[in-house]
Amino acid sequence: GEIQSHQFVIRATPVKRLCKTHNSITVNGMFPGPTLEVRNGDSLQVQVVNKARYNVTIHWHGVRQMRSGWADGPEFVTQCPIRPGGSYTYRFTIQGQEGTLWWHAHSSWLRATVYGALIIRPRLGQSYPFPKPDRETPILLGEWWDANPIDVMMEATRTGAAPNVSDAYTINSQPGDLYNCSTQDTTIVTVDSGETNLLRVINAALNQPLFFAVANHKLTVVGADASYTRPFTTSVLMLGPGQTTDVLIKADQSPASYYMAARAYQSFQNAAFDNTTTTAILEYKSAKKGNALNPIMPSLPAYNDTNTVTAFTRSFRSPRKVQVPTDIDESLFFTVGLGLNNCPPNFNKTSCQGPNGTRFTASMNNVSFVLPRNFSLLQAHQQGIPGVFTTDFPGSPPVKFDYTGNVSRSLYQPITGTKLYKLKFGSRVQVVIQDTSIVGPESHPIHLHGYDFYIIAEGFGNFDPKKDTSRFNLVDPPLRNTVSVPSNGWAVIRFVADNPGVWLMHCHLDVHINWGLAMSFLVENGVGELQSLPPPPPDFPVC
Ligand code: C2O
Repeated sequence: GEIQSHQFVIRATPVKRLCKTHNSITVNGMFPGPTLEVRNGDSLQVQVVNKARYNVTIHWHGVRQMRSGWADGPEFVTQCPIRPGGSYTYRFTIQGQEGTLWWHAHSSWLRATVYGALIIRPRLGQSYPFPKPDRETPILLGEWWDANPIDVMMEATRTGAAPNVSDAYTINSQPGDLYNCSTQDTTIVTVDSGETNLLRVINAALNQPLFFAVANHKLTVVGADASYTRPFTTSVLMLGPGQTTDVLIKADQSPASYYMAARAYQSFQNAAFDNTTTTAILEYKSAKKGNALNPIMPSLPAYNDTNTVTAFTRSFRSPRKVQVPTDIDESLFFTVGLGLNNCPPNFNKTSCQGPNGTRFTASMNNVSFVLPRNFSLLQAHQQGIPGVFTTDFPGSPPVKFDYTGNVSRSLYQPITGTKLYKLKFGSRVQVVIQDTSIVGPESHPIHLHGYDFYIIAEGFGNFDPKKDTSRFNLVDPPLRNTVSVPSNGWAVIRFVADNPGVWLMHCHLDVHINWGLAMSFLVENGVGELQSLPPPPPDFPVC
């Protein structure tokens, strides 16, 4: 492969949306940020120069980072943040992944505006496992606030309440025709009749799973999270934040303009959400002026249409038979969900504005994850610095309960800790991820850093080891880095711990990370250099 060098300058840039101009944090003054286009086997070195007034890190979402954990990016997990005025060069190689990934800030809520596509094409001389498309277009779905997103986050932290919902969704950073002052900047994708376009759809929104559809056009899914899938046809996609989906779309309709549109999939019924719709335009070049002026709107599912989501996610298969890990060494059960902490004695009422005077919290196995402040976990692990973390993250929840029924009040209040779960190099791991439905049932997009995993089953209600194991797909399950755990249900993933380091696993709804819905795996070195993490690079940011 080749070596590609890039520079990302992080700085405040005037950005006008919804009739107002903001000083938004961007990369190289671009919003969305630059698209990186590489081939499988290429190496990237990206120098990130921080000219903003916030700490920043960049995460290469979905890149496996084999033995390059120092370049993964989550703040205080693999590195300390790049301080204002500082810089750090991320160096890593793409190994065996093809399709669409993306990069984003992994520090507070900066990723609201600091994100971009990472496109990985086959090695030189190799081709896609589907007919070569005539065009390729990244479609980045995002979320926009009139306020500074960092302020929105800090306000939520201060009050203990749910954060304000966004003011718009966006496609390639533009809200589109249905919002005020946005028409002239609506994203337009032009096509010739008869040609096929590869849309690389990325859900970069902070806190919202989204439906996506294109009026009158079928979408043929060919990949997700930089793994190919067995092609299947659908009229609508659902992506949890963090997920990507590659679709082929054939311009086989009468020459006109068609809206591509996205809006919320909201399974958490009693919560407020942004119920607006973002649009871009698929415009046939041969469309007559009149036809081009009034794009046709797709019909999107109802906000709470979980049946459509289930049918969609269950259509994913690997293209052929795959080697799913068997003879599992680590059989884990992780609960994921929200909670409500009682107002602590030293807090005043304005800090406890969650339901009934509580503060929102979230946890995995009833542990609310707390990031360290003086070292990154990876540095503390590699250098044997004591007191930064413990390795007692529970492999199963502390108490058994009925995730669909009434839950004991004590489970609403998780403990806090910086708890890691230690894995021997090469161990075969299964994790059942169960939505607790505490506070409310919700589809959590659970993302694992440093790995792809097979999603071997999903279902509703309580996971039942007696009957649900018979539903495991050990033949051709999809390979992903983010699983949308069914609302009020569960998903089962498997992977082999072949990448030493410290790897964050978390809900990709950003507010849930703030509330603690995360844990980390500590994967030990194996035998010899090829199974061990090398030392950090010389410019590695320390605290
Ligand atoms: Cu896309 Cu930990 O993130």
